[in-house]
Amino acid sequence: MDEPGVDPKNVVRIFDTTLRDGEQSPGASLTSAEKIDIARQLARLGVDVIEAGFPAASPDDLEGVRRIAQEVGTADGPIICGLARANKNDIDKAWEAIKDAAKPRIHTFLATSDIHLEHKLRMTREQVVQRTREMVSYARALCEDVEFSPEDAGRSDPGYLVEVLTVAIESGATTLNIPDTVGYLSPDEYGALMEQLIAETPGGDRVIWSVHCHDDLGMATANTLAGLAAGARQAEVTINGIGERAGNTSLEEVVMAIHTRPTFYHLSTNIDTTQLARTSRMVSNFTGIVVQPNKAIVGANAFSHEAGIHQDGMLKHHMTYEIMTPETVGLSQSNLVLGKHSGRHAFRVRLKDLGVELGEDELNQAFDRFKELADKKKLVTDADIEALIADEFYGPEEVFSLAGLQVACGQPGMPTATIKLTGPDGQDHLAAAIGTGPVDAAYQAIDQIIATPATLVEYRVNAITEGIDALGEVTVRIRRNDDDSPRTFGGHGADTDIIVASAKAYLSALNKLLAYTGYQDRKPEGEASTVRVNAAVPAN
Ligand code: KIV
Ligand code: ZN
Repeated sequence: MDEPGVDPKNVVRIFDTTLRDGEQSPGASLTSAEKIDIARQLARLGVDVIEAGFPAASPDDLEGVRRIAQEVGTADGPIICGLARANKNDIDKAWEAIKDAAKPRIHTFLATSDIHLEHKLRMTREQVVQRTREMVSYARALCEDVEFSPEDAGRSDPGYLVEVLTVAIESGATTLNIPDTVGYLSPDEYGALMEQLIAETPGGDRVIWSVHCHDDLGMATANTLAGLAAGARQAEVTINGIGERAGNTSLEEVVMAIHTRPTFYHLSTNIDTTQLARTSRMVSNFTGIVVQPNKAIVGANAFSHEAGIHQDGMLKHHMTYEIMTPETVGLSQSNLVLGKHSGRHAFRVRLKDLGVELGEDELNQAFDRFKELADKKKLVTDADIEALIADEFYGPEEVFSLAGLQVACGQPGMPTATIKLTGPDGQDHLAAAIGTGPVDAAYQAIDQIIATPATLVEYRVNAITEGIDALGEVTVRIRRNDDDSPRTFGGHGADTDIIVASAKAYLSALNKLLAYTGYQDRKPEGEASTVRVNAAVPAN
């Protein structure tokens, strides 16, 4: 497709809020190690801004944002942004968390719709204007880069929005973001609103206008593109479109629309599109939120051609049914990547191509896993290598690790699993259980050792590559039984043995739950630890 010359005025800044609005999705809780890994991957992807979290939410959230600011917010890296309600405490916390980044940004927000003013804030319109003035000025005194969002702008009176946004600019805001918080508007309405605000807000030519849409009516991507067509030059998006309720605008959809239709949109981004598939997989694996197969750009079927007529067309010329190639989004066509005769050097080079950087010890560890896999599987693909790396190095801190697993199953029979886990005490523990199937038996055996009451709410298996020797990938989500919150914990495991992959996924979710509940030293004195290792079954 033809590329127009890139006019700097038409470069859209990609503001990724996967770690903030995305993490607010039901069930998407990430450990701080996972947040850092995602932030690093977002930097590799080339996003301009990472909204790393909401520091006032908890000391853990503040710490998570601070680590991202310190480790990913380098001079040549992205802007690191922290969200704050329009009050001094939130703004102070956000600043504390992001100030070590080379390019910090405070993002403060205050609702402007009458519904929010009356029922949530219990403030008058005048009070909201006054608070905007005070808090944007306060944030600006701390940080040169300040973004202001009138929450629920989509249902706010446009005339009143102009008044509030004018005050935000006068008080030092450098980016004005217009959220359709509840995904209510149609693309025509959202585009017209954006056009009106840009035209009527005095000083509007001195700031960056930003779009932030939710997908309640399935219009987030269309609304975002309409806002950009109306003059906005920042898009707030999440990987895989995860977020509150129906989610946020999906990063990959907006980026690929702009990339695939340059002569229509006349826009460009700084995104390395070949990192899209990888980033999508990482976010899905870490959050436990599975991407639907027909999801645009990153769904498993997005580049599959099943119908005979389509296959025939594709064989004649790929452009008959393909508007973008799988390679553009980082899906490798070549199956043969490495095999059992490949050496350490070839493995290292392949990892580098995939954007994975490992220290010498980690490389050795990964190479051993690769050799094991190559013994079982003839062809080891990029997807296999990524799954292996994710399995080995990403994921929660290991409280319990899998030391052994044996199952007996069949028909008729009593599916039985024997499991050995190494616990936080460094000891191995054994348990055996009978279940409805081998996975159920393995999970029951794990439950006997880790006495943390949790319910399995989702279990999915996926073959990473085709073929009988494919690496199986299992994603699970669990919920703590004695907890009223909707928070669930995702886990992920990969192995050529699907029962082993299932046990690893369940353990990784349990490890996350244990890390979240503060399994060790954070327990007040005298209170029983959340982790009760069933000491009656030591391995030796
Ligand atoms: O949807 C929304 O209104 C938000 C704001 C905090 C920007 O996420
Ligand atoms: Zn939002």
